[in-house]
Amino acid sequence: MEKKKIAILQGDYSGPEMMQAGLAVLDAVSQNTDFEYELNQYYFGGEAIDAVGEPLPKETVAGCKKADAVLLSAIGGPKWEKETNSPEKGLLQIRNELGLFANIRPTKVIKALENHSPLKQDIISGTDFVIVRELTSGIYFGTPRVEEKDYAVDTTSYTLEEITRILKVGFEMAQRRKKHVTIVDKANVLATSRLWRKTAEKFSQDYPDTTVDYMYVDATAMKIITEPTFFDVIITANLFGDILSDEAAVLTGSLGTIPSASAGTKGPRLYEPIHGSAPTLAKQNKINPLSMIQSIELMLRDSFEREDLANRISRAIVKTIAEGIITADIGGQASTTEMTAAIIENLKG
Ligand code: IPM
Ligand code: MN
Repeated sequence: MEKKKIAILQGDYSGPEMMQAGLAVLDAVSQNTDFEYELNQYYFGGEAIDAVGEPLPKETVAGCKKADAVLLSAIGGPKWEKETNSPEKGLLQIRNELGLFANIRPTKVIKALENHSPLKQDIISGTDFVIVRELTSGIYFGTPRVEEKDYAVDTTSYTLEEITRILKVGFEMAQRRKKHVTIVDKANVLATSRLWRKTAEKFSQDYPDTTVDYMYVDATAMKIITEPTFFDVIITANLFGDILSDEAAVLTGSLGTIPSASAGTKGPRLYEPIHGSAPTLAKQNKINPLSMIQSIELMLRDSFEREDLANRISRAIVKTIAEGIITADIGGQASTTEMTAAIIENLKG
């Protein structure tokens, strides 16, 4: 089997620790299998600003483009807060450069962690939904943009094509799940949302056995905490998806557990935790490695079709959590490296 090329963007603050944990698990799970890979590391985010003066050097773009998948930990932090060409700009740029318009953010509550959710157990139990967030358009990228001392403008825009391609990703995903799609918008106020709704109404006719409902984003924010089990696949615009996915992630007890995948129509996909670089936890061996390890699990499943390896990782995670060898954010006392070592031990079955 051909060696898979994986581009590594290790990120800032807690980023490198998370990446190290994830790669240790990848190394262990692929031992004695025919899955072979090579890692190529590139500068990105704050470390790239320090090294070469910009968050997304062209070598990084070129390296990612020729990879089969990209693994990113997390970027940014107080050190670069005043940069105009910030790490966050680099993140938006790389999504754009790689054409990653579909961002998939799962919220699945692991049984053994139910009691760690901020919600009552009878509300959270059984929660398993996915947010499909549009990632390369909307208010994040719309023009004109103006930023003056006493005046500022952001613009939100969507084309029919941009809406249709993200709907396709979401509806296809629903076919492999509970066939229930919720389109989240603000169609009572925004023209772009009305275009989303009209487009979805038409598009959904090709999926007659899928239940489709339409919900305003404010109502959705409420329903996610009052009845999270209602949802299966949420499809929504860039900013709404950004906000709702943080809300959804914290239902699991900690942002530190949730991975994400970003995909375009072709080219490498990018896998990253949904949380940031956690500067206050950095270099203390405290960061929860789960979001990174589960990002790698997603990569094995989606980019490399290695269900076998991905399943071994997910079983090892469940076992490790059941044993209580977990970091402080989810109620344990283990360090990053202890939790990672336990997961690797549990890969053995
Ligand atoms: C995310 C982050 C980014 C976003 C920021 C860092 C630009 O919050 O990945 O959700 O808003 O997309
Ligand atoms: Mn966010």
